[in-house]
Amino acid sequence: SQYRIAVVVGSLRKDSLNRKLALALARLAPPEFSFEHVRIDDLPLYNQDNDGHPSEPVKRLKSEIAAAQGLLFVTPEYNRSIPGVLKNAIDHASRPYGQNTWAGKPAGVIGISVGAIGTALAQQHLRNILAYLNVPTLGQPEAFVQVKDGLLDEAGNIGIEATRQFLQGWVNQYVAWVKTHTG
Ligand code: FNR
Repeated sequence: SQYRIAVVVGSLRKDSLNRKLALALARLAPPEFSFEHVRIDDLPLYNQDNDGHPSEPVKRLKSEIAAAQGLLFVTPEYNRSIPGVLKNAIDHASRPYGQNTWAGKPAGVIGISVGAIGTALAQQHLRNILAYLNVPTLGQPEAFVQVKDGLLDEAGNIGIEATRQFLQGWVNQYVAWVKTHTG
């Protein structure tokens, strides 16, 4: 497809709600968009000493990001910020200095949580990081999704019609954002 999107899910949990949300979003996108989940669970902890000889998982991450036309971050909130595993992945692909693989890739930021403010603070922290890394990030609409019974199933179906419509609107704006930034 024309637009390859690297999906970065900020949870390693097998039954991650954020992974289900990512699958659901992909199903709302047009056929010229493909969504490939980037693996982050086998990355070592970032250590600047290894910048000159990156391990295989790090090389893989960087080549997957480099090959993508856009980025989709779907992350939980951990203690009012982003999970360490997500920050670790972001740090890896931002280095060595001058070889920031994220730069210029249009991005969307979204997440689901059990809390009432549904990942708002994690998203705000992530936006700060992405701004520094020169990643143009969709500003509106914002989407803070709270867990509800029947909202998401394994296949990425959205069980609540109002939420499905809201997320369709979000995906439409995201698609337009990626197209705007990829010419
Ligand atoms: C959480 N959770 C959480 N929720 C929230 O809305 N704000 C928060 O700050 C936190 N903090 C937090 C810290 C840690 C260490 C854990 C494990 C969890 C709850 C979180 O929303 C819930 O576990 C989600 O289900 C995590 O997303 P995944 O793994 O289902 O994608």
